[in-house]
Amino acid sequence: MAVAPDTERAAGGVRAAWPQAGLRLRTERVELRLPQETELAALALAAGHEPYRFDVPMFSRPDDTPAERTRRFLRYHWDTLAGWDRRSWTLSLFAFVDGRPVGQQVVSGDDFADLREVSTGSWVHPHHRGAGVGVHMRAAVLDLAFTHLGARYALSGAREDNGPSLAVSRRFGYREDGCVHQVAAGQVHRLLRLRLSAQRWRRLRPDIPVEVTGLAPCLPLFGIG
Ligand SMILES: CC(C)(COP(=O)(O)OP(=O)(O)OC[C@H]1O[C@@H](n2cnc3c(N)ncnc32)[C@H](O)[C@@H]1OP(=O)(O)O)[C@@H](O)C(=O)NCCC(=O)NCCS
Repeated sequence: MAVAPDTERAAGGVRAAWPQAGLRLRTERVELRLPQETELAALALAAGHEPYRFDVPMFSRPDDTPAERTRRFLRYHWDTLAGWDRRSWTLSLFAFVDGRPVGQQVVSGDDFADLREVSTGSWVHPHHRGAGVGVHMRAAVLDLAFTHLGARYALSGAREDNGPSLAVSRRFGYREDGCVHQVAAGQVHRLLRLRLSAQRWRRLRPDIPVEVTGLAPCLPLFGIG
């Protein structure tokens, strides 16, 4: 007779195989971690109503309906999980304030073990913008990258007219590093590229303490340790 799988033991086994689920980055304002399915659903539904933006992958189709945008948001998140590779990884963390998901902070590394460069991208729910969440999210992932993963550089990109995104980068001392061009909906767009070195970050970082827990078992999955 078939024996039902022991779900308790299975959950422990999956945690060992997928330790990113236990990773937590905390500042006094936000907690960053991977979301549960219901938390992902809540933010994906809210993201469905976000207007078109060529510079954020999930919102990059001008003719999406809210349902399509929600699906794109979900697929983007699942892609980051399914496509994880220790050479090239993307960690799509959600930001929680008072236990509720309010934004997404992505940090990725391509050929990270060799290049030691990370790229970041972020989105905060419109109701929570302008209250410091974006700065705290960035503080958390920069601390992860520079202090704990040994990154040498962090890269970001923003439209020239994206005041809030550029302001967040400026708070940490990023410098302009040329530009990149992207095609979206048949149009060519220009993004400013920004670069922050570990040395500059150590010198200029705002005083935002970050607590990182659950990282040790993840290190091999970041291609280090
Ligand atoms: C960019 C984003 C993640 C920032 O998050 P946030 O929670 O609003 O950011 P914060 O409140 O921590 O900081 C916003 C900063 O922008 C500044 N700011 C706000 N509006 C601004 C404007 N129109 N022009 C210039 N600066 C502006 C604020 O003064 C603050 O800077 P300060 O800390 O030096 O005072 C958020 O605005 C967002 O989700 N935007 C839409 C998606 C997006 O653009 N993502 C980035 C793509 S490159």
